[in-house]
Amino acid sequence: MTREYSPSQDQDVPALVSLIIDAFAGTADASEAWLRTHSPSNIRVLRESERPVACALRIPMAQHFGGRAVSMVGIAGVAVTPVHRGAGLARDMMSRVVAELASEGVALSTLYASTRPLYRQVGYESAGCRFSHRISVANLARVRGSPPVSPLTEADMPAARTCYERASPAQQGSLVRTEYCWSRIWKNQGDVFRGFGVRGPDGSLDGYLALRQQPKPENGHHDLILNDFVATTPAAASALSTFLAGFATMADDVVLYAGASHPLALLMPHHHGAVTLHEPWMLRVCNVPAALQERGYPAGLSATLVVDVRDETAASNAGLWTLSVEGGAARVTRGGSGPVLSLDIRGLAAIYTSFLSPAQARLAGLAQGSDETLAQAGAIFAGPAPSMSDFF
Ligand SMILES: CC(C)(COP(=O)(O)OP(=O)(O)OC[C@H]1O[C@@H](n2cnc3c(N)ncnc32)[C@H](O)[C@@H]1OP(=O)(O)O)[C@@H](O)C(=O)NCCC(=O)NCCS
Repeated sequence: MTREYSPSQDQDVPALVSLIIDAFAGTADASEAWLRTHSPSNIRVLRESERPVACALRIPMAQHFGGRAVSMVGIAGVAVTPVHRGAGLARDMMSRVVAELASEGVALSTLYASTRPLYRQVGYESAGCRFSHRISVANLARVRGSPPVSPLTEADMPAARTCYERASPAQQGSLVRTEYCWSRIWKNQGDVFRGFGVRGPDGSLDGYLALRQQPKPENGHHDLILNDFVATTPAAASALSTFLAGFATMADDVVLYAGASHPLALLMPHHHGAVTLHEPWMLRVCNVPAALQERGYPAGLSATLVVDVRDETAASNAGLWTLSVEGGAARVTRGGSGPVLSLDIRGLAAIYTSFLSPAQARLAGLAQGSDETLAQAGAIFAGPAPSMSDFF
């Protein structure tokens, strides 16, 4: 039986729709509509005897690490036909996806995993979190004298994007949103979200949120579902919190997805809510030099680190690399000498995003080195806890 891996073609659509329906239990219409939002050139298909038996979707994006945008391809829609499962097809397809990204020079790949062992086998590792916050509206902070909040119109959408672009680099792991990401902020799986924003003294949009009211037939109240909440100033965060608190007579909870330290939760005078890990995300360092060079580093740090990488899926990553950090940026060269931090490519992923300190990675068996080398690596990759509010 011949097995072939390639981009999809128009005539694959019916087979791909079947694959997606069997994998994710959606309707035929919704599955086809979702597939058609992506260019066939971004869908990878594994065929046996010319019949599609597995697929994966590549979503070209970028992700912020150390305050800089790093090239990243998100992976979604990984599916194997039910009759072919358990035979290693997903592992084979994902290793080809990773090898292809590595050779294209794409720094990173990120995904939300339904099963972690599959992706670990090709070098992904847990590297950040997406938490769900359920916060009592009655207990949101109300800040007297906050600037007014007003509805956003279509004309405000470019300003909302600019506002997100100003705020997101500070959030380790946040996406550099593409059209696809933005299309899911205001309308997601049939739900429509309304925009509300707050302006600064110069008239620029300093914060906004995307809101939907979810009725609760059991008590006639509703919950406030937020698909986005962005504040570039403390005054904007306070204004948006005060605005949401104004729903308290009929709204029970605010529900939003973000990192653990979301501004709305930080502003609360008392903690009345639940923070639950919704999904960890996994990351793969596809191209070691690109990943290390595209990332930002602590300004003011001058340091050198030699890493010895093990990578069975993308062999071009394996071996010694020297990372020289200066002025918030890094230069990466092949080879190196002196004390070495030995890393499985999965360990590099978890350390790269600041999800694990090098010492934690050593405890997990993902890194080896002396205490001094680990401390040096810890200073280089120090950062806030990585998180993502978007789901793809
Ligand atoms: C998940 C899925 C893609 C796996 O496809 P597959 O071809 O059967 O997977 P493989 O045979 O290549 O298995 C590779 C590894 O994945 C893991 N895995 C596969 N199926 C699994 C299952 N049902 N439960 C838990 N882990 C599983 C195993 O660790 C396996 O390695 P092992 O056989 O050495 O233990 C397939 O079951 C599927 O399409 N499921 C529905 C959609 C889905 O969950 N997609 C992934 C979204 S992130």
